[in-house]
Amino acid sequence: MEPNRRTMITSAGVVGTVAAVGLTSACGSDSGQSGAGSSESAPADATVKASDVPVGSGTVIDEAYVVTQPKEGEFYAFSSVCTHQGCQVRTVTEDKITCPCHSSQFSTTTGEVLGGPATEPLPKYSVAESGGTLTISGK
Ligand code: FES
Repeated sequence: MEPNRRTMITSAGVVGTVAAVGLTSACGSDSGQSGAGSSESAPADATVKASDVPVGSGTVIDEAYVVTQPKEGEFYAFSSVCTHQGCQVRTVTEDKITCPCHSSQFSTTTGEVLGGPATEPLPKYSVAESGGTLTISGK
């Protein structure tokens, strides 16, 4: 009987500790949740050489961004995930980004829909150029 009591007391202590840790974690995650949620929804920053983005076209980076250069020295970045059903956009011309799955088309300067079935634009990201390197920010 006595070992059972010790076991029960020990178990109760562990349960109490776990509950306390759980509460602490819940409080900690509440304060950090918005930041963690934001970083999960936006892709990490990425870099690409400006020379790797063809003029009158574009390139997909890390399966996260499509960077376009419709005119020399003009760079734009968007999510490369199609807003229709989530395929990766692939084909970039001077004025259109095209999704291969159902042929939605998006503007290379604004990301807006030029042709469905997609109805939402590609999210646009900022591009900063320095020393021939483009940094795309997911914020
Ligand atoms: S997933 Fe892109 S057009 Fe359907």
